[in-house]
Amino acid sequence: MAAAVTAAVSFPSSTKSTSLPSRSLLIAPERITLRKVPVYSREVSASGRVVSIRAQVTTEAPAKVEKVSKKNEEGVVVNKFKPKNPYTGKCLLNTKITADDAPGETWHMVFTTEGEMPYREGQSIGVIPDGIDKNGKPHKLRLYSIASSAIGDFGDSKTVSLCVKRLVYTNDQGETVKGVCSNFLCDLKPGADVTMTGPVGKEMLMPKDPNATVIMLGTGTGIAPFRSFLWKMFFEKHDDYKFNGLAWLFLGVPTSSSLLYKEEFEKMKEKAPENFRLDFAVSREQTNANGEKMYIQTRMAEYAEELWELLKKDNTYVYMCGLKGMEKGIDDIMVSLAAKEGIDWLEYKRSLKKAGQWNVEVY
Ligand SMILES: Cc1cc2nc3c(=O)[nH]c(=O)nc-3n(C[C@H](O)[C@H](O)[C@H](O)COP(=O)(O)OP(=O)(O)OC[C@H]3O[C@@H](n4cnc5c(N)ncnc54)[C@H](O)[C@@H]3O)c2cc1C
Ligand SMILES: NC(=O)c1ccc[n+]([C@@H]2O[C@H](COP(=O)([O-])OP(=O)(O)OC[C@H]3O[C@@H](n4cnc5c(N)ncnc54)[C@H](OP(=O)(O)O)[C@@H]3O)[C@@H](O)[C@H]2O)c1
Repeated sequence: MAAAVTAAVSFPSSTKSTSLPSRSLLIAPERITLRKVPVYSREVSASGRVVSIRAQVTTEAPAKVEKVSKKNEEGVVVNKFKPKNPYTGKCLLNTKITADDAPGETWHMVFTTEGEMPYREGQSIGVIPDGIDKNGKPHKLRLYSIASSAIGDFGDSKTVSLCVKRLVYTNDQGETVKGVCSNFLCDLKPGADVTMTGPVGKEMLMPKDPNATVIMLGTGTGIAPFRSFLWKMFFEKHDDYKFNGLAWLFLGVPTSSSLLYKEEFEKMKEKAPENFRLDFAVSREQTNANGEKMYIQTRMAEYAEELWELLKKDNTYVYMCGLKGMEKGIDDIMVSLAAKEGIDWLEYKRSLKKAGQWNVEVY
């Protein structure tokens, strides 16, 4: 059994909104007792013990803690609904969560599932937009990462939420083109039907270990699965899961007016300062000491040594979601850090991936 413990889905008040009333408080926050034990420690790797284990990975059997592969995790449902038998839910709420002066629009939306779409944190759903394509055929589905935890924004396991950027671009002929599904979704009004498939995906399932270090690297709407993780960690109460590890979120966005779910994350930080670290990279407003654009990897580079130490622990899990370009940028900083200790980053990354500790869903 799980219960939601937060008061409201918070969005910038200045933005346009077509929403139902915010959720009610199901459990008073004062009844939550989060144990605030500092879990981040450099000691874990001070001896270099874990590094040597990893360094052996390519030559000997690694002395690693056995973990259940996410691919075999029990009870994770995939493809319950397919394009031929989709699920039709209703839009309950659709709110623009970027400010009016942000470059582009991102919307947070909640759909009814009546408990029929049993998803886990880190999964995605497909959406089939209404209408037909230029060949007169129904539109194909598009995938969207789920932005709510498994119990949903209303805490009743009967909804699913998405975080969608409206795609608008200018083509080679100078015409403005609107992406089919993102515009369909961002324009949805409460009460409208939404055709869904899924749930799908196991790559981004969150670690079961409540004492894990979870490093989340998101650009733009790549924040979606991390909002889902973080709600479970900090806004909910579960009999079988009480997060007491370290969650560290890096979020890259173009401007401060496009920072997604900032107020929610700040609330989490207030609640659990020892268990949550939050770093933003605002690319068009911030630079590093060399005057370079502040991308997510630029911000991470400020904590390079700390991140490297964390990466040596067996219970550190890294998740990356968003723009494809970020993966190379992050690899670049890791290559030099690993090289300092004579480790080949790509080899090391492979061992992390195999152990389910390096998880990437970029697009
Ligand atoms: C696993 C997964 C999860 C995803 N999660 C999310 C999510 O949480 N939120 C989210 O917003 N999106 C997410 N996406 C992206 C989403 O699936 C759609 O691709 C996106 O919304 C665009 O779809 P559309 O129908 O609006 O655009 P379409 O009508 O499909 O148009 C997209 C096409 O337009 C063209 N195009 C796009 N930009 C340009 C440009 N600048 N110049 C020229 N041509 C261009 C390209 O050919 C592109 O394929 C995810 C994708 C994947 C694979
Ligand atoms: N599961 C998934 O696979 C998944 C889930 C959600 C979203 N997505 C995808 O993620 C993307 C997010 O786009 P968005 O429009 O929402 O984001 P956005 O608001 O434009 O923000 C993206 C941020 O990343 C920066 N950036 C650009 N190139 C980068 C690089 N090489 N390395 C690091 N950072 C870089 C951008 O900086 P500048 O613009 O200033 O250069 C901007 O600050 C979309 O393509 C979406 O489809 C994928």
